[in-house]
Amino acid sequence: METTLIIIKPDAVQRGLIGRIVSRFEDKGFQIVGAKLMRITRELAAAHYRDHAGKPFYNSLIEFITSQPVVVLAVRGLGAIEGARKMIGATAGLQAEPGTIRGDFGITNSLNLVHGSDSPEAAARELTLFFQAEELLTYDQPHGRWIYG
Ligand code: RTP
Ligand code: MG
Repeated sequence: METTLIIIKPDAVQRGLIGRIVSRFEDKGFQIVGAKLMRITRELAAAHYRDHAGKPFYNSLIEFITSQPVVVLAVRGLGAIEGARKMIGATAGLQAEPGTIRGDFGITNSLNLVHGSDSPEAAARELTLFFQAEELLTYDQPHGRWIYG
C-alpha cells in the first residue's frame, strides 16, 4: 500500500470541482486517509515546489498556488502514487488524455486543477509538509476485498 499527496488546486476549488475530483479517487478504489481545506503560505509553497525554483514559471506557480484555498488529500491504495498520476494526466490539459482529470477539465499547463506526488520519495516528503502524523487516519475499507480480491 502507498499513500500519495494530492492537491486540489485553487482553480478547481473556485470552479466547484472538489467533490467531483475526490470522487474520481474514491471511484477508483483508493481511500482518503487525510483531507483538509487550507490556504498554502508562500513558505510552504516554496518548500513544496523547491525543485522548480529558478524556472521561468516558478514565480507565477507560487502566486497561483497561494492565491486561494486548496484542498489537500492523502490518498492511499495499491500503486496509489503512479496510479494517481495516471488519473491526473499530462501537465497541460490540452495534451492530457481524455478520461484523465486534466484531460477532462482543463486546457492550460498552469490552471491544471490537481497536483500529485511523482515518486515515493516525493510522496513521503510532501505528506510530511502538508500533514501532521495524527492527521493521517488508518481505518478499515470493508469493501476492499471487492477491489483487491
Ligand atoms: P504538479 O507537480 O503540479 O503535479 O504538476 P506536474 O508534475 O504535472 O508538473 P511539474 O513539471 O511538476 O510542474 C509543476 C507545475 O508548474 C507549472 N508549470 N508550468 N509554464 C510551464 O511550462 C510550466 N511547466 C510547469 C504547472 O502548474 C505544473 O503543475
Ligand atoms: Mg510535479
